[in-house]
Amino acid sequence: MQDRIEELLAELDLAGKLRLISGAGLFRMAGDPAIGLAEMPVSDGPSGVRGENWDERDPSVSLPSGTAIAATWDPALLGEIGALIAAEARRKGVYAVLGPTMNLHRSPLGGRHFECFSEDPLLTAEMAEAYVRAVQAHGVSACPKHYVANDSETDRFTVDVHVGDRALHELYLYPFERTVEAGAWMLMDAYNAVNGTTMTESPLLDEPLKGAWGFDGVVVSDWTAVRSTESAAQGTDLCMPGPPYLWGEPLAEKVRSGEIAESAIDDKVRRILRFAIRVGALDGTPQPTPVFTDAQAQDVVRRVAAQAMVLVRNDGILPLAPGTKIALLGPAAGEPRFLGGGSATVIPGHTITPLAGLDGRLPLTHTAGVHLSEDLIPAPLAIVIDPETGEPGVSVRYLAGDTVLGTQHRTTSRLVLLGEPLAARSDLVELHARLRADTAGDWQIGFGGVGHIRLDIDGETALDENVALDSGDPAAALLNPPQRHVTRTLAVGDEVDVRVVTSIEEAMPGLGIILGATLGIRRPQRADDEEFAAAVDLAREADVAVIVVGTTEQIESEGVDRTSLRLPGRQDELVAAVAAINPRTVVVVNSGAPVEMPWRDDVAAVLLSWFPGQEFGAALADILTGTTEPGGRLPTTWPKTTADVPVLNTTPVDGVLDYTEGIHIGYRAWLRAGIEPAYPFGHGLGYTTWSTNDLVIAGRTVSLTVTNTGDRPGKQVIQAYLSRPDSVIDRPVRWLAAFTAVTLAPGESRIVTLTLPRRAFEHWGPDGWEIEPGEFTVQAGTSVTDLPHIGHVC
Ligand code: BGC
Repeated sequence: MQDRIEELLAELDLAGKLRLISGAGLFRMAGDPAIGLAEMPVSDGPSGVRGENWDERDPSVSLPSGTAIAATWDPALLGEIGALIAAEARRKGVYAVLGPTMNLHRSPLGGRHFECFSEDPLLTAEMAEAYVRAVQAHGVSACPKHYVANDSETDRFTVDVHVGDRALHELYLYPFERTVEAGAWMLMDAYNAVNGTTMTESPLLDEPLKGAWGFDGVVVSDWTAVRSTESAAQGTDLCMPGPPYLWGEPLAEKVRSGEIAESAIDDKVRRILRFAIRVGALDGTPQPTPVFTDAQAQDVVRRVAAQAMVLVRNDGILPLAPGTKIALLGPAAGEPRFLGGGSATVIPGHTITPLAGLDGRLPLTHTAGVHLSEDLIPAPLAIVIDPETGEPGVSVRYLAGDTVLGTQHRTTSRLVLLGEPLAARSDLVELHARLRADTAGDWQIGFGGVGHIRLDIDGETALDENVALDSGDPAAALLNPPQRHVTRTLAVGDEVDVRVVTSIEEAMPGLGIILGATLGIRRPQRADDEEFAAAVDLAREADVAVIVVGTTEQIESEGVDRTSLRLPGRQDELVAAVAAINPRTVVVVNSGAPVEMPWRDDVAAVLLSWFPGQEFGAALADILTGTTEPGGRLPTTWPKTTADVPVLNTTPVDGVLDYTEGIHIGYRAWLRAGIEPAYPFGHGLGYTTWSTNDLVIAGRTVSLTVTNTGDRPGKQVIQAYLSRPDSVIDRPVRWLAAFTAVTLAPGESRIVTLTLPRRAFEHWGPDGWEIEPGEFTVQAGTSVTDLPHIGHVC
């Protein structure tokens, strides 16, 4: 391959080389027909493949998010997930999937916590490595991100993370090291700076990434993370998005003048050519991937979602007996979060809410009980008609002056114009629909968006405003734009003609990141107190109350950190009120990251669903009825209160976020502080019972006899932790060294053997990796605080 790369490089002049090291488009790497190189689309990632555009007409399978995947504690599952992701990538013509996201859960406030795997570097590394291997086995590149220390969102473009060498190597770099070992073809560097240098120019790209670890793939910048033309002399290889800006003509001048050596550019081009050969964009065709039918894809998502759900408490109420009459309550029962907000968003072709999934499986009554948000929602398809076609949906027109450049029938009222070619040539876009009221009362009708926006209702201008971008972060501006509305009183069946006309706005001028607009509504609804009381009434009459609570896209998403771990709205109050009148209450928590659960000891069961992907309701029904047992274990510690969390802060001071806690994050910090969390790392229950016996240590292997002592099949996750009580260096109280998931039939026993890797014994010293001579303590069991088996290893 090397000869071929040199041959191709020799055919390129400076302009040809520079074309390749910047994107050709928002999600597209450049090609060069003269050397037979195709343009190479890439896509977010990581929990599904959106494709180049954000368009409901080309939907994607929505998979469980990072925390859910890690909660399976089962890297073997990534085989199926990776195959599905690769299949989706190929279907969408994509050569690289921008994932996995593998920053650490340093603070539970981190807005992208849901997208990352865990607070523990080993669990993160195992899942990330399996992801990379599984996707790339099918000829599609993965792209581990964001290198490195991009563990929170506040001031993410500018924050300078100060982190010591030891924590950097033992915690934050380690998962990346493992994905490089796994052969990652591409890796994304982060927006933030580390120890004074922005990551797209960081010396960490040379050492350890390209030096000691031998990474021979492409380092792609996070989108718009390249800050200067001079940065081309440093380790980032590909500046995204395109078309070329800082590395375009300004860079050509600097190379011609000798200010930047052409050899630095050549190294980047070699890497891009190597990548192109690997993914089949040069000298060949892409490797065929497996093909999934819709039913097969749905089956994978449903099984993984159930494997990921963590039952943290169960007094025996679950699984529910057939015929149990449930009151299904909570705002997320009918309007759950399937996936996290931000660049990880995909548009699934179908989704199953808890309400839809449980309907027909158990007799149920339903009301939300709490109105979670005062915001408009995109007008649902069921109540909008495209006036052009008469079909459910919206008519979208792209206008340049008086010329109509194009008209589309769309089946969404939320238009995201990222990558829409017509938008790039228009100055106005219009969403037009007939809205048919399905509820009588006061309707809010309006829009979400940025720019000069007009709302016409029945041909009359109702609003006409210049709406300013209220955040410098394009992700936030895209997904959570300002909203405006008017109120109209409608009877059931009334129709109004609604038109939203918006100027085309760029999130970052010159970069082609174009925002969108939403035609939004809010239906008339019961007054808050009435709705709350209705839910409590339903709970009183039911055998069991199932309450699905959760976060919102406003508080848990890319681009923002949370300020508290409390559930929004009156959700805590609802659970407390329901539990007070019906102790047979099961709470399902639909969040990507920890939330406070002040009522947790007063309810019969608590199940954490994470963001489980499009089959949420089906997987939940499987678990509640006992068709499947919940297979998850906590990949991160769940606190009792926000104030208890030992490492919380995500707000930089004078631009600096200091990781003063060093190597003590997650359960390491909890153990050191001696504070008891609500539920510890590694904890999770199933529906059977277990015994673990007979610890045997041989060299650096640990074996335990694991027995399913119950009467149904089940999964257990055996975990081994090391500690070093009399160490001469600062150590975590204990740290995860190995784990394995085991599934056993009723009565079945198995000897489970864990190999403790060399790295588990090493620490990062002044001269690199070292092992402190002497004995380490090993403890084995089923969570970081349930470790009945103790021995010693050297
Ligand atoms: C995110 C990346 C993402 C990229 C492209 C950035 O804002 O941080 O994770 O891959 O956008 O959408």
